[in-house]
Amino acid sequence: MLELDAKQLLTTTRSVRKRLDFTKSISRGLLEDCLKLALQAPNGSNMNTWQWLIIDDKNTISSIAKIYNDAMDDYVALLGDAVGDNYMGADIPGFEKINQSVDYLRENLTQAPAILIPLMSGRVENAGVFMQASSYGSIIQAVWSFFLALRSHGLGSAWTTAHLWREQELAELLGIPFEKYTQVGLFPIAYTIGTDFKPAYRKPVEEVLSWNHFNS
Ligand SMILES: Cc1cc2nc3c(=O)[nH]c(=O)nc-3n(C[C@H](O)[C@H](O)[C@H](O)COP(=O)(O)O)c2cc1C
Repeated sequence: MLELDAKQLLTTTRSVRKRLDFTKSISRGLLEDCLKLALQAPNGSNMNTWQWLIIDDKNTISSIAKIYNDAMDDYVALLGDAVGDNYMGADIPGFEKINQSVDYLRENLTQAPAILIPLMSGRVENAGVFMQASSYGSIIQAVWSFFLALRSHGLGSAWTTAHLWREQELAELLGIPFEKYTQVGLFPIAYTIGTDFKPAYRKPVEEVLSWNHFNS
């Protein structure tokens, strides 16, 4: 376990792409331990309706990487020139670096030693805000706890949702009953190259916090 205090753990758990170590394998036991910690996160009525799918078979990972890349192409085509000056993220500090990192993951996802696909029960396309919030709110915390657990063991992941443009295709590949489960994201897992990560840019608290009455 890395010696990180709570503040370090919470401020330095990053989306890791370029520093994923694709040369090291990961034991299933370690991933199960991380998931055990993650499952302590809250979920609505403690129903535990979640399912967790970890893929560590190389051929299946290659097929997943292809779907991820095809879905990214769909996304870029939809957005137009996603890295152009008019893109809404273009004025975010380090935006160009993020794009290079996103491209790196696209090119190398096929080498990931493991990929996690968390599944929430049911479909929310046509659900109201309450059901959507309750469904995502019953799994997202656990996914983030999984990230924290990975980090504390010297591993890392990157939060990704791009493949959801082709969610059904991945469901078919992995045998997920599409009508019964919604994929929450796709999380490549690897040891990290080095363990020193830094806090990231975020808008300052004063810009995003109101007290007592909404003020923006
Ligand atoms: C909901 C969500 C979806 C994301 N989707 C992708 C994705 O499809 N591909 C990718 O490379 N990164 C994706 N990211 C990672 C973000 O780009 C990353 O979190 C952001 O640049 C901030 O970096 P940090 O996580 O290290 O603080 C996603 C992050 C979130 C929270």
